[in-house]
Amino acid sequence: MTITRRHLLISSAAAAAAAVLVSRASAAAPPLAKKETYKVGFAQTESNNPWRLAQTASMQAEAEKRGWQLVYTDAAGSAAKQVADVNSMIAQGVDLIFLAPREEKPLIPAIMAAKGANIPVILLDRNVDQTLATAGEDYVTFIGSNFIEEGQRIAEWLVANANGKTTIIELEGTTGSSPANDRKKGFDDVIAQHPEFKIVASQTGDFARDKGRQVAETLLQAHPDANVIYAHNDEMAIGAIAAVEAAGKVAGTDVLILSIDGGKEAVQLVVDGKIAAVVECNPRFGPKAFDTAVAYANGETIPALILNPDQFYDASNAAELLSTAY
Ligand code: AHR
Repeated sequence: MTITRRHLLISSAAAAAAAVLVSRASAAAPPLAKKETYKVGFAQTESNNPWRLAQTASMQAEAEKRGWQLVYTDAAGSAAKQVADVNSMIAQGVDLIFLAPREEKPLIPAIMAAKGANIPVILLDRNVDQTLATAGEDYVTFIGSNFIEEGQRIAEWLVANANGKTTIIELEGTTGSSPANDRKKGFDDVIAQHPEFKIVASQTGDFARDKGRQVAETLLQAHPDANVIYAHNDEMAIGAIAAVEAAGKVAGTDVLILSIDGGKEAVQLVVDGKIAAVVECNPRFGPKAFDTAVAYANGETIPALILNPDQFYDASNAAELLSTAY
């Protein structure tokens, strides 16, 4: 029988499917051998904001400090490219992959491919759909912030400090990403318990400054009575300030701006009175990520979830803490 390209495609697709089935059935995530030094991958989602740059810098600094080789990729905002990046790391024979999955579902095949190749994956900062992949089985663990709690904390601050400002526009992060899903859930659930508050519009600004500005401009035109903007990250909050000013209003006085991330620029804007409050999302992953890999190689039991502590900034502490913001 002549083997055609079609046969090869069919059989490789079948092999991949079988590998996925095998990996879903096997109980434990791939092991990491104990070695003096490692070659590890870090698959970043994009590099378009200070938070991402701080996370990458923290990972690179830690790799350098330990003398580990770091294979770094930047998916430039494309989940498809991030899947290809992980596949390339597998082909390069890395010992372990640190993955910041851009969205919850599209990166599942990459996790399963790494598992099929016997390479452990540690998820950083963003999580994946928990009905499709499991910590301790398909990947080792998730290290990051509690995004639901971040949304809750900013909503609770608003409830306590609103001073009559109760008409809310919400700028969501990247659709399908765990921070967008969870920050929305945390915030909306708290607000739902306070009927005097109303979320009049909620739309994605894709975690990006200019998109956040454009969406905020449109929503402020549609809802001129809005007096609170809750942005799922600093970039969109800073874009929203421009939109508020373009509407002839004063950020911090006419419209309260609330944010998540806590980069230096945003904390300075809290000091300046333009942003009312920011929950930090801690981007300093390096030490914890590499320590966790070593603990895993040593055979220690790794919890399914490893949480980063997050700071909170408002007018009461922003000036004092500004120098500690990333
Ligand atoms: O996953 C964390 C989020 O992703 C940060 O809030 C955001 O700024 C980044 O792009």
